[in-house]
Amino acid sequence: MKTGKNAEPTIIVIFGGTGDLAKRKLIPALFNLFLAGWLPENFAIIGLGRTPLHDDDFRERLHEALGEFSRSGKPDADQWAKFSPSVFYFQSDINNPESFKKLGELMDQHESEWKAKANRLFYLSVAPQFIKTATLNISEAKLASHPKKDRIIIEKPFGHNKQTAIELNQFLTETFHEEQIYRIDHYLGKETVQNILAFRFANALFEPIWNRNYIDSVQITVAEQVGVEERGGYYETSGALRDMIQNHLLQIMCMVAMEPPVSFEAEEIRNRKVDVLRAIRRLRPEEVHQSAVRGQYASGWLQGKHVPGYREEEGVDPHSNTETFAAVKFYLDNWRWQDVPFYLRTGKRMQEKMSSITIQFKPVPHSTFTGTQADNLMPNRLTINIQPQMDIRLRFISKKTGLEMELNPAEMVFNYDTCSTQTPEAYETLLLDAMQGDATLFMRSDQVEEAWDVITSILEAWESRNSLDFPNYPAGSWGPENAEALIARQGHVWALNTHLHDH
Ligand code: BG6
Repeated sequence: MKTGKNAEPTIIVIFGGTGDLAKRKLIPALFNLFLAGWLPENFAIIGLGRTPLHDDDFRERLHEALGEFSRSGKPDADQWAKFSPSVFYFQSDINNPESFKKLGELMDQHESEWKAKANRLFYLSVAPQFIKTATLNISEAKLASHPKKDRIIIEKPFGHNKQTAIELNQFLTETFHEEQIYRIDHYLGKETVQNILAFRFANALFEPIWNRNYIDSVQITVAEQVGVEERGGYYETSGALRDMIQNHLLQIMCMVAMEPPVSFEAEEIRNRKVDVLRAIRRLRPEEVHQSAVRGQYASGWLQGKHVPGYREEEGVDPHSNTETFAAVKFYLDNWRWQDVPFYLRTGKRMQEKMSSITIQFKPVPHSTFTGTQADNLMPNRLTINIQPQMDIRLRFISKKTGLEMELNPAEMVFNYDTCSTQTPEAYETLLLDAMQGDATLFMRSDQVEEAWDVITSILEAWESRNSLDFPNYPAGSWGPENAEALIARQGHVWALNTHLHDH
C-alpha cells in the first residue's frame, strides 16, 4: 500500500501510446498524480506508436484528451507547462529490435541527465498478439534487466483461455522475474472495491456474521449502458464471460468471499484471494445450462435514443454467437460459504449503468410480529454500490413512528462524496502502486489461471453450441428473461439499485 510520495526517478513507457486507453485513462491518471504531487521530480512519459508524430503533436493530442477525460477537467495552463515537457513520443515498430535499441538510448539519455538509474515501467496496452514480441524485445534489448526497478504492466485480456494464459505466464516468467510482472485488473483499483477490505476487516461488526449462518445469497452485478461501440473486432473474440466475468466480477467475488488476511502484504492478500477461486465449484458441462445464462442485445431504446443491436455493430458478424450478457450462479466449497449462491451478472446495453454487490441476509429465525404488523418485515440487506453511485447501504427494520406497532424498512447509508473530483480513478491508484513496486492490487499468475479455470466449462459449452435465441434482450432492458429464471429457482430476484424511499 502507498506509504509516501514517490521520490525515485521514473520512466513510464506506454506501448499503445496513441491508443484509446492511453488517451482516456493512462495519461489523465498520470497527470492527476502529477497534480497531487505523487510523481517524482524526475520523470519521463514516453508514448510509443507506429504513426510518425512530433513530441509537440503528441502533447497537443494529450492536452485535448485531458480536457475531455480527466476528472480534474481541462488542465490549468501553468500545470500543463510544467508537466508536458516530460512527455515524449517515440515512433516504433514492436517487431523491430532496432526500435528497442533506440528506445534504450532514449531512456539512458534521461538517466544520465538525472545522474540516476530510474525505475522503468513498461505499460503494454496493445492487442494480445503483440505482448510476446514486445516483451521479448524489451528483454533482448536489456531494457528491463533490474528486477527491483523495472516493471512490466500487462493490460487484459491476459490470454484467451486457460491454456494460452498458462503459456503467456510461462513465457513471461522465463523472461522476467515474477515480481516484475504487473497483471492489471482495473476494477481492483476502484476506490469502492478497495473499500470492501476496509469495510470487512477494519470493523468488528460484520465479520462474525459474514458466513453461511447469516448470509442467504450474494449478488454481484456490473451493468453497462454502453454497447461495444468501435471495439467490435476485439469483442467478437471475447464476449461478456471473458471480458468481464473472468476478471472483474470474479475479483470482486474474491474480495467479498476471502478469509481475513493476516496482514496487508501483497502475497498474503493474493493467497487469500486465490483460495476463493480454488474453492469455486466448477460447473460440469451438463450443468452449464442450469447455472449460466448468456444473452446478446438486439436494437432498442436507451436514454431516448434508438441504438443498434450487437449484430449490426461495426466489426461484428451479422450471425454472431458472441454473448454481450452473462449471468452465472456459483457455489463455494468451503466452510464459510457452503450452499450460499453467488450470482454474478454483467451485460452491455443494459437499462442502467450500475455496479453493485448485494449481500442478502437470512430472515429472522422467528417472527415476534404477526398479522399486518409483519407486513413490512424483510431480511436485512447490505448493498455496496461500486459505480456510478458510490455508497454502502444497510437495510434494517424499524418501528414506524406512531401509536401502533408497525414495521418499516429503513436504511443506514455511508455515502462517499460522490460529486467530488477528489476520488482517484482506478488507474491512478494502480499506476502509483506499480511505480512504488506494490503488487497487492495486481494479479499473480496463479490467480489468472484459476480464474480461467473457473469459467472453462462455460466457455466450452457456449462455444460448442450456438445460441438459438440470439439476440434475446433489447437494448435498454435488464437482459434476457432466462437470467431472472436462473435465480428465481431459489426464490431470489435480482436487486435493483433503487434507494429505499424510491420504492
Ligand atoms: C473493460 C472491458 O475491462 O472494462 C470493457 O474490456 C468494459 O468492455 C470496461 O466496458 C468497464 O470498465 P468501467 O471501469 O467503465 O466499469
